[in-house]
Amino acid sequence: MAVKVGIERVTKQYGGEGDAHFVLALDDVSFALDDGEFVSLLGPSGCGKSTLLHIVAGFEDATQGTVRVNGKPVAGPGADRGMVFQDYALFPWMTVMQNVTFGLRIKNLPQRECERIAREHIALVGLAGFENRFPHQLSGGMRQRSALARSVANNPEVLLMDEPLAAIDALTRNALQEEILKVCDARDGRPRKSVLYVTHSIEEAIFLSDRIVVMTPRPGRILEVVGVPFARPRNDATRLAPEFQQLAGEIWSTLKSHIKPN
Ligand SMILES: Nc1ncnc2c1ncn2[C@@H]1O[C@H](COP(=O)(O)OP(=O)(O)OP(=O)(O)O)[C@@H](O)[C@H]1O
Ligand SMILES: [Mg+2]
Repeated sequence: MAVKVGIERVTKQYGGEGDAHFVLALDDVSFALDDGEFVSLLGPSGCGKSTLLHIVAGFEDATQGTVRVNGKPVAGPGADRGMVFQDYALFPWMTVMQNVTFGLRIKNLPQRECERIAREHIALVGLAGFENRFPHQLSGGMRQRSALARSVANNPEVLLMDEPLAAIDALTRNALQEEILKVCDARDGRPRKSVLYVTHSIEEAIFLSDRIVVMTPRPGRILEVVGVPFARPRNDATRLAPEFQQLAGEIWSTLKSHIKPN
């Protein structure tokens, strides 16, 4: 399978060596995200998950090593990569429709086409009828659905998501996990999205992913890469299967010894 994102021996330092604020946020991290694959970065706070995602997004440079998207080294942000943040990052002065069409308008698509694509994606995340609401008129879950619709509507080659459900209550979170899988799936002749997803929830990582990159902090390193064999589409039955709980238990026992008090 073709490699979509290649992360090659990436190291990231904050501050100079010997400096009181020196942090080795990532230490020699390598792995590849295949085309159409869903990979989660899982690990405790401070293990460098956001740092790695920001390097892939082009928001930050690696101190050493290279990230390639479709074989080309990342030199900065680009429309081939779309990001969904924990705090929704919607423009508060724009409606749902205006937020979702924002990236499409930048691409100079005609207004009618922007609205058609936006409506399709707003409906896909279950928000049909809410097009003219402003973010403050929506629940946290609805705001995150809007942010998801906005990112996917731009049709990036790679979707980067940094704990998009961390601020969402536990009941809504399960429903939104299924929603994320739905929007990332192949549809209308478009291939399945390639997704790099950050979470510190073992269950969330298992539910969503094809593979899980388990990371440990200080310095941020890959502890292991775990394949998730469960069939798709995934649903409540997936979560209830004894194999699901068993895999969660195995990942927890591997991670446990690396979790130190902050
Ligand atoms: N801009 C920065 N300047 C200095 N240090 C930083 C900066 N950004 C991150 N760090 C440090 O790098 C390490 C990794 O941080 P990062 O935010 O990537 O972790 P994370 O795995 O995303 O954590 P969390 O789960 O809490 O979001 C931490 O020790 C953090 O303090
Ligand atoms: Mg983070």
